[in-house]
Amino acid sequence: MILPIYAYGQPVLKKIADEIDENYEGLDQLLSDMWETMYHASGVGLAAPQIGRPIRIFMVDTSQLDEEGKEPRGIKKVFINAEILEEDGEEWAYEEGCLSIPYVRGDVNRKERIKIVYEDENFVEHEEIYDGVNARVIQHEYDHIEGKLFTEKLKPLKKKLIKRKLENIRKGNVNADYRLKFM
Ligand code: NI
Repeated sequence: MILPIYAYGQPVLKKIADEIDENYEGLDQLLSDMWETMYHASGVGLAAPQIGRPIRIFMVDTSQLDEEGKEPRGIKKVFINAEILEEDGEEWAYEEGCLSIPYVRGDVNRKERIKIVYEDENFVEHEEIYDGVNARVIQHEYDHIEGKLFTEKLKPLKKKLIKRKLENIRKGNVNADYRLKFM
């Protein structure tokens, strides 16, 4: 089932999300709905707060960005109860966008490499290192479960330039080609 995506301005996007355990009711259905919702909206990642649940789940599918003829680098994974343990390397800029903030994009600086510990959909723990675009998408989604949005990390001038757009989204004056839920 495709779920509505909570738009900029929804308080759930500002909350630090809670851990869950294997007794969380309806987890399989929730994950399946989240994948469907993410693909329907042409996203490469989606976090549970974006569908209105303040819990530590996000998923990433960067395999969609793999280019033909090149070595595949993408990952398709669910991250439950994730904690980023370390971030290192050079900061680099990459233009980010967010399904909760349609038509807003901007360069965000983040470190190139992360070490992350998380549980998969069977609650098996993994500790892994990611870099490049995989790290980037994970960092963006991880911010969602920490109650942060990429727009907070833009340069001051850019923040000024998008202020009006953000206000319009908050008020529900925006149309995306997927369903959004406003305040
Ligand atoms: Ni996002």
